Amino acid sequence: MSAVPAIADVSYDALLEDPYPIFRRVRDTAPAVFVAAANLTLVTRFDDIMRIERDSATYSSVNPASLVNKVMGPTFMRKDGAEHAAGRKAVEPAFRPGIIKEHWAPKFAAICERLIDKLVEAGEADLYSALAAPMASLSLMEMIGFKEIAWETLALWSQSLIDGAGNYSRDAEIDRKAMEAGAGIDTAIEAVLDHHRAHSNPSILSAMVHADPPMPIEEIRANIKVIIGGGLNEPRDAILTLTLGLLADPDQKESVLAKPELWPTAFEEAVRWISPIGMYPRRVAREVDLSGVTLPEGLQIGLCVGAANRDDRRFADPDRFDIFRAKQSHLAFGAGPHFCAGTWVSRQTVGRIMVPMLFERLANLRLRDDTPPLVRGWVFRGPISLPVRWDA
Ligand code: HEM
Repeated sequence: MSAVPAIADVSYDALLEDPYPIFRRVRDTAPAVFVAAANLTLVTRFDDIMRIERDSATYSSVNPASLVNKVMGPTFMRKDGAEHAAGRKAVEPAFRPGIIKEHWAPKFAAICERLIDKLVEAGEADLYSALAAPMASLSLMEMIGFKEIAWETLALWSQSLIDGAGNYSRDAEIDRKAMEAGAGIDTAIEAVLDHHRAHSNPSILSAMVHADPPMPIEEIRANIKVIIGGGLNEPRDAILTLTLGLLADPDQKESVLAKPELWPTAFEEAVRWISPIGMYPRRVAREVDLSGVTLPEGLQIGLCVGAANRDDRRFADPDRFDIFRAKQSHLAFGAGPHFCAGTWVSRQTVGRIMVPMLFERLANLRLRDDTPPLVRGWVFRGPISLPVRWDA
């Protein structure tokens, strides 16, 4: 067994710009590598991440030092075993397949229709700000059970919480904004909680207050913050990535438009290709051997699912967006007990409603030759600008 090797000649900006060559280097170096720019030991091979996610006694989601706990509070996403299962069970009614199909899907389709109605005449837009960001924000607001909050406010809260949870340089202004977002969310919860107690409904807040036993208020606050921090940018980025993948490859686009039953496959390929969550953390609870490397007790590791989804031991020509590749499961939604609670709602709504509607309603949708799309990030990754034209 050997110690964890280190890579020190990579800049943080290079990770943000294009993490994939760095992920490849890490993957080819060892099962776990300390990357100085990230100040974290990264795990990048598909099989190793699967092994880790099957063993939560050794690879724990609990980390007392995590800023997620400081910024958001006691969330089930950073718990193990029975405590995690209790929180997960409490929110589950809002994510049931039947509720998604009968309740959320028509609501999200109506939001998407309205946003596209406003766009059709323009003939050009940046789909990040004109569609994907408001779509993700408004639909999450519905699911949570908030009323009358501007989509920009929820989006700002989400970003401020994410920044706060990653603020390891302890920038005071970032801390202040995260705390301000947290206070805004607590007030918004307070404003609707009595309504949800009195009227049971499919929303997440309703599920929490009607759970048996009801979720305590400090856990409601923490878990709603996690859902705002982690349930907004991923659908936004998935909408944009799927759109980008198809627009950049007219043959694949034509295939999907000719055979709509390919939409679900195209969605899975998009989140494999550019995974909206590129990395999430675990803590090593006891010294362990991971494929020949010794991980000491207490080590914080980053599971790079964005790297594992491009592991060439599993996926042929992994950097290519290819909806016709051999069918293989991926790790974009994680694995094991913390497998994403929002998987089915995202599959159903992004892959079957929103992006298909976009291509159906905006005729001859195409990328702009003069303004290329911009994709950025490694912990969270997606297009930050997707300028397009269509025939108005
Ligand atoms: C394309 C869209 C999405 C992607 C790629 C995604 C990805 C992920 C990943 C990788 C995790 C595991 C994180 C970890 O273990 O630390 C996760 C967890 C989670 N996601 Fe998502 N997510 C998406 C959409 C959503 C949505 C829309 C919601 C809520 C409305 C949501 C709610 C959650 C929750 C509550 C957890 C924590 C689950 C647990 O700890 O048991 N996600 N997601």
